[in-house]
Amino acid sequence: MPIEAESPEERGYNNIAFNLAESSVSDFNFKDLNFDVKDITLCYGDHKGLPELRQMLAERYKMKPEHFIITPGAAAGLFIVSTSILNKQNRLLVQRPNYITNIETPRLQECEIDYIDLKFEESYQFDLFKLNTMAQKRPALISITTPHNPTGTALNEDELNETIEITEKNNSYLLVDETYRDLSFNKALPLAASLSDKVISVSSVSKAFGLPGIRIGWIACKNKRLLETFLAAKEQIFICNSVLDENVALFYFKNENRFFPSVKKHIAHNFAILKNFMQNTKNLEWVEPQGGVVCYPRIKSRINYTLFYDTLYKKYKTIVGPGHWFETDKRYMRIGFGWPTAEELQKGLENIDKTIESLK
Ligand SMILES: Cc1ncc(COP(=O)(O)O)c(C=O)c1O
Repeated sequence: MPIEAESPEERGYNNIAFNLAESSVSDFNFKDLNFDVKDITLCYGDHKGLPELRQMLAERYKMKPEHFIITPGAAAGLFIVSTSILNKQNRLLVQRPNYITNIETPRLQECEIDYIDLKFEESYQFDLFKLNTMAQKRPALISITTPHNPTGTALNEDELNETIEITEKNNSYLLVDETYRDLSFNKALPLAASLSDKVISVSSVSKAFGLPGIRIGWIACKNKRLLETFLAAKEQIFICNSVLDENVALFYFKNENRFFPSVKKHIAHNFAILKNFMQNTKNLEWVEPQGGVVCYPRIKSRINYTLFYDTLYKKYKTIVGPGHWFETDKRYMRIGFGWPTAEELQKGLENIDKTIESLK
């Protein structure tokens, strides 16, 4: 997939000065956590995941510990859900664009796929009327991401409830990728899985909490039968999680007040920079995000978009997530505003402007 070849990891972080391609907040350095690793037995862990961590998540998200399976990141959770529910004989209804795993894994499974496209002209809003109509084909799984990657738009509580109603009416399951939930700009919605046993929530410590390097995520679900299947799938692939990673995540949540407020402050500051830029630039138009750390603006003028990305990188050492990563026109780009420093973000945005100006 092109996203791999063009990712910052592949280009090499040293070759990038202004990295606006990340979809997470700044990564924590292990030493800043001040976590003492000396006393951890390196055994196979509990297959469902560290009990204390599941207890912690249950309290945090108002569910029960037995509703959680810890996974190596949200990506593994999404893979497990997809491969447990979908097959060649059934159907998926999924938002597009989306985090690519939510589309690519089902494609490999060769199930029938219908897409609900989020359109710039419709402010990237999730169309419930369309959902209601398309769900009449009775998909095995309806799959949404909120707050959304790459657009940053989010469902409100009524919309989430209606989506669940439609899911139940058609006897489908609903997968809600909630990886950005804890970065909602408005009050975060209840964990979707807490609202119905037809709903599966997936999330992780990667995006909101700044810990993508310890591969810890979770599947939350109230449906016992589904949980059994998910656990069996997890055991086939991973057996258990890294006990070290689980303990770091537990430590982070226990000491959240030391870490998370600074993350939120950084995002609010950077979002103000982004908003100011977007209100003043002549070169981009956008839909203002409602959560997370990404937005999906588009270039206003007809320029050579391939050359745009090339010049932006080669001349200005600046990268963004190009539209083709998300199977849309290259005129769209994902800008990640949570990862860079405020200065890097400001400079990177100015470089976008300069590059477009030079190609007009
Ligand atoms: C919406 C969404 N879901 C899941 C993931 C995967 O995250 P993780 O690092 O927890 O596997 C990503 C990563 O970009 C994402 O944007």
